[in-house]
Amino acid sequence: MIGIIAAMEPELSEIREAMTDVSVRPVSGMDVCCGRIGDTEVAAAVCGIGKVAAALCAEAMILTFGVSHIINTGVAGALSPELHVLDIVVADGVVQHDFDLSPLGLAPGHIPAAGGIRIPCNTGLSGHIAKCAAERLSVGIHSGCVASGDQFICSAEEKERIRNRFSALCCEMEGGAIGEVCAMNGIPFTVLRAISDGADDGAPMSFEAFTVAAAHNSAAVLIAALRELPQKEFIKK
Ligand code: ADE
Repeated sequence: MIGIIAAMEPELSEIREAMTDVSVRPVSGMDVCCGRIGDTEVAAAVCGIGKVAAALCAEAMILTFGVSHIINTGVAGALSPELHVLDIVVADGVVQHDFDLSPLGLAPGHIPAAGGIRIPCNTGLSGHIAKCAAERLSVGIHSGCVASGDQFICSAEEKERIRNRFSALCCEMEGGAIGEVCAMNGIPFTVLRAISDGADDGAPMSFEAFTVAAAHNSAAVLIAALRELPQKEFIKK
């Protein structure tokens, strides 16, 4: 069973609508929606915004639902000038840009529990999703680092700081925490995001205007990827 985690309702609604044989189980204040997309069994939930909510949801999916893989999906702010609104980013790794033990001698972003700064995503899962995205959408499809933190990034300075320090393509608020939980449990994971804004001073307005359209792109890619999940590499049930 594959766990699907989104922070906000518009990021999950189309994915839930694509599910069949649905049953809903409440866990830790979240409704986890279990069912199938194509032949793939999925457990899907809106976790709420931020790293703690995302970590809680990932841990619940692993311990209570026994998911074999987790995919975090939704929208993100662009850090790289090569990214445009509605483009797709499939993570090859995640970082937590607000994790800072530098006064204690560790590099900014170094997470002792995760053994480093960057937590790698599952290459099979990321590659399959990127391939489905390229076949399906005419927007830019990018692969790279996704930076997470408990802040909505909306300034050129902060955006540059995160991009320069972590070489990250985009920023959001959950993927890094889900990656840490998955790494600690030995669960393969990846992050799929569509760009809603430029993480600059226009970000709040752009987020308002484009979140639904961006979430439509990430949902379309994820639904196609789950329907076409290669049987050999991934456990479908
Ligand atoms: N999710 C979408 N846009 C974002 C931004 N600018 N900062 C953090 N998370 C986001």
